[in-house]
Amino acid sequence: MESHSQSNIQRVSGVSLIFLFVCCTFLVSLASAELHVREFVIEAKPVKRLCRTHQTITVNGQFPGPTLEVRNGDSLAITVINKARYNISLHWHGLRQLRNPWADGPEYITQCPIQPGQSYTYRIKIEDQEGTLWWHAHSHWLRATVYGALIIYPRLGSPYPFSMPKRDIPLILGEWWDRNPMDVLRLAQFTGAAPNVSDAYTINGQPGDLYRCSRPETLRFPIIPGETVQLRLINAALNQELFFTVANHQLTVVEVDSAYTKPFITNVVMLGPGQTTNVLITANQRPGRYYIAARAYNSANAPFDNTTTTAILEYTNAPSGRGQIAPVFPVLPGFNDTATATAFVNRLRYWKRSPVPLQINENLFFAVGLGLINCTNPNSPRCQGPNGTRFAASMNNISFVLPRSNSVMQAYYQGIPGIITTDFPPVPPVQFDYTGNVSRGLWQPVKATKAYKLKYMANVQIVLQDTSIVTPENHPMHLHGYQFYVVGSGFGNFDPNRDPANFNLFDPPERNTIGTPTGGWVAIRFVADNPGAWFMHCHIDSHLGWGLAMVFLVENGQGQLQSVQPPPLDLPRC
Ligand code: C2O
Repeated sequence: MESHSQSNIQRVSGVSLIFLFVCCTFLVSLASAELHVREFVIEAKPVKRLCRTHQTITVNGQFPGPTLEVRNGDSLAITVINKARYNISLHWHGLRQLRNPWADGPEYITQCPIQPGQSYTYRIKIEDQEGTLWWHAHSHWLRATVYGALIIYPRLGSPYPFSMPKRDIPLILGEWWDRNPMDVLRLAQFTGAAPNVSDAYTINGQPGDLYRCSRPETLRFPIIPGETVQLRLINAALNQELFFTVANHQLTVVEVDSAYTKPFITNVVMLGPGQTTNVLITANQRPGRYYIAARAYNSANAPFDNTTTTAILEYTNAPSGRGQIAPVFPVLPGFNDTATATAFVNRLRYWKRSPVPLQINENLFFAVGLGLINCTNPNSPRCQGPNGTRFAASMNNISFVLPRSNSVMQAYYQGIPGIITTDFPPVPPVQFDYTGNVSRGLWQPVKATKAYKLKYMANVQIVLQDTSIVTPENHPMHLHGYQFYVVGSGFGNFDPNRDPANFNLFDPPERNTIGTPTGGWVAIRFVADNPGAWFMHCHIDSHLGWGLAMVFLVENGQGQLQSVQPPPLDLPRC
């Protein structure tokens, strides 16, 4: 009897101890979630690159802009004050923004732009995301200089799935014009021709040793012999896929687009605009200096910037001063080395089993590519594209036009007609041999503002099929509001009877931006669990401007917790 009641008492106290423990950890995790309040002032500041000073649009006078460092579970309140002479909006690339499209940022899609003299506060909650993301302007070409890193650490005490080095170096790859990028865009918009290619690539804003007037400011990263550091690579270039490498060193890939991967070793990384890749690098070579370098992966039949940006990885025990030797230069893949680009992307695997949807409710097929708009007067100064045309681009033959008088999200939320229609075609209106010799009659898309509606929680598959119209090309396709699984890809035309059998439904990589292989296709899947208006577009800004975009309108589910939040009071007006 006695022993029985005693053990009962013990059991009770054991249970209450566990209860206490759960309560405490809950409180600790609540207490550790932080609110980061920041002010981002958009203003023109003199920035000197390639021997010349430009009045560059910056955030808080910094180029690149400030790095945001937060933890999973944190919140952000970023007040953007527009002191520049252009309309602007900011996008938090890769953040899910669950039920809160109002903080997503693409102008005329989820908000009207912030006009000069106005301000807007982005209220963001980080929910179940960690890793490397970034933020950038989402109006015209302002993101050429308005961008920065967004680093999300795990919750306090939550481990990494790999052994995380003590040191972390963000490397943002950018693209620099020796002119005002907005003027480059304006000229191209007038003539209808392709915009001028950039004059330099940059690493954290610096072109490096191979450009005029740049050598004194080439970035140097000291590393202790034997040390392992993590590089957070971000491709913030406006219009160019890039190869990245470090001379004599191997790179271990551990994360892409804020999703962990099964680690693998590579000499070269390929990133499309918008993509991020975390790699580990160990100082296990001879004491010395080694170039970090990036240059174009050019998949199209088109002019491109063929220069190379560099920074220097410097062993702390390398001879310095007079005895200093020139850094070792790496071997970079050829500009059109699609085999290397493809081999890299195809090695990516999610770090564990992916929760990829298996039963598909929405089977979509989007033909993506360039096009040409014919002119009545081909000699017009406004028709300087190939053979007196104007460049265009499309998805399923719709060349997306941004609304002007309101944003898609506001129109959708308030039921305002005339801003967007919901008849975006789920398959191309005309089927053809997409990657073959396409007849000229199929080169001209239709300009329109169309969305595709998705039911809340629909299981969606999209096959993104590149076309060879004008030129086949790798298009880095980005979906706002979602992370998706990349279940398959290939060259040529997608074959619905044969290709799905080879899909990886076990551990496909999770991403927010994926390139259509040049002259090929890629298949992605996601669950439509985030209601709102979400932009899907090519992250090459010249293609975006030509209309390579569409919008998903994801319906609300049941009740408040499955519905879009009410808009904030300071949402900008058009
Ligand atoms: Cu990083 Cu809509 O873009």
